[in-house]
Amino acid sequence: MFFKLPRRAKLAAAAVGVAASLGVAMSGATAQAAPQPIVGGTTTTASAYPYVMQITDSGQNQFCGGTLVTPTKVVTAAHCMVGETTSSVRVVGGRTYRNGTNGTVARVSKIWIHPEYRSVTKGKDVAVLTLSSAMPYTTAKYVSATETGVYAAGTTTRIVGWGTTSSGGSSSNQLRTATVPTTSDAYCKSAYGTRFIASDMVCAGYDQGGVDTCQGDSGGPLLIGGRLAGIVSWGDGCAEPGIPGVYTRLTTFSNLVTQQINS
Ligand code: ARG
Repeated sequence: MFFKLPRRAKLAAAAVGVAASLGVAMSGATAQAAPQPIVGGTTTTASAYPYVMQITDSGQNQFCGGTLVTPTKVVTAAHCMVGETTSSVRVVGGRTYRNGTNGTVARVSKIWIHPEYRSVTKGKDVAVLTLSSAMPYTTAKYVSATETGVYAAGTTTRIVGWGTTSSGGSSSNQLRTATVPTTSDAYCKSAYGTRFIASDMVCAGYDQGGVDTCQGDSGGPLLIGGRLAGIVSWGDGCAEPGIPGVYTRLTTFSNLVTQQINS
C-alpha cells in the first residue's frame, strides 16, 4: 500500500483505491510537521494579524474567532452564532491576549447566519456580523467564487486563533498561529465519510497530525496566500494522525458573503 490512509478510513479503502487510480492526490500532507503551536504552532500578536477578531460574550470572554473583511463586517462560523443575539456578543479587535483589556470593542447590530445552516457536518457554516462601530484595523481580503483552485491538495494555509492547544485542553491566553497543508477531498472523505461535504468544506492537516485548530478557534480564519479562504468549523478531536481539521470552503459562499457585506 503506497498511500497512508486516515485512521478511520479502513472501510473507505475501496473508494481510496478508485481515487488513487484516478490520480487524485491523497494527501499532499506527508511533509514534516515542524512543531509549531492552536495545537502545534507559535504565539503571535494582534498586530501581526490585525484582521483576526475575538468574538466574545457581553463580558468580553472570547469563545470564537472571526475575520474583519470591512471596517464593520466580520466573517465567522454559523455554529459560533447559534443562540446568540446582537446583545449577547461583542467583537474585539487589537487584543492579543484573551485576558487583555486593550484594543477596540464593538457591539453587533446584525447577525446573518447562512439561512440553510443546520449543523457543522451538514455544511454552510458561515455567518457575517455587522458591527455598530467601525474597527480601526487592516481588513482581510477574501477569495472570490471563481478561485476554486486555491485549495489544491498540499497548499500551505495559515490558521490563527485562541483555541485550546490540545484536545480537551484549555484555551490559549495568547493568540497563536501555525501552518497546515490542505488535503485532497478524497483524503478528507476517507477520514469523515458522508460527514465531509466537498462543496461546502475543505480539510487541512498533516497526515501525521500534530498541528491543527481546536476548540475555541472556530470562526477564525484559514488563510491562503494571505487571504481568507476558509473558516474554522469542526473536526474529530484535534491534530490526530489521519484526521484533518475541517474548514468552510469560502469560495462556495463568497458571493453570499459579498451580498451581506453590501447590505
Ligand atoms: N468546533 C470547534 C470550535 O467551535 C473547532 C474545532 C476544530 N477542530 C479541528 N480538529 N480542527 O472551536
